[in-house]
Amino acid sequence: MGRGIVLIGYRGTGKSTVGRIVADRLGRAFLDCDREIESRSGRAIRAIFDESGEPAFRDAEELTLAELTEGHPGAVIATGGGAILRESNRRRLRAFGFVAWLTADPAELARRLEADRAGLAGRPALTSAGTLAEIEEVLAARSPLYAEAADAVIPTGGRTPDQVASAVLEARGPIPDEGGS
Ligand code: S3P
Repeated sequence: MGRGIVLIGYRGTGKSTVGRIVADRLGRAFLDCDREIESRSGRAIRAIFDESGEPAFRDAEELTLAELTEGHPGAVIATGGGAILRESNRRRLRAFGFVAWLTADPAELARRLEADRAGLAGRPALTSAGTLAEIEEVLAARSPLYAEAADAVIPTGGRTPDQVASAVLEARGPIPDEGGS
């Protein structure tokens, strides 16, 4: 079993969709950190933010990432958009395997998140600013952290999830036990 694969990036970059495709192609387990947090706590992410606050969510996120990476070597893991905020998470994800940062323009992200109404309703606003302004502000603050954690930057604009998955695998390069060319 080769190194694991981790997808990081802002909300709306397709981490979960692409992660599932990558895992299927490699015949590996797929793990979605946010879904794990929800099933362990029995609460939606938004409820955790609203009822317990962001620091409590970040603690749960850190613990869950630690357990997923320790318990599932070689898996494909989709992280929440803020997983890179804590240095311990950045270190852990890099040690786990190949880290791909999925990117898109702020305007494109705003369009995707607006189109995904259910997604917007289920996700906490990170600041009080409107969607595009929020995205620009948060991305500017987080970009250095995504960059620090990433082995590769994978633009998603104008690409289907299948094409993004191919780009992730190409950037990672072949691994001997998979007979890659
Ligand atoms: C967050 C992104 C969300 C989720 C939480 C916080 C963030 O994950 O972890 O709402 O801080 O960017 P997605 O990127 O999967 O939406």
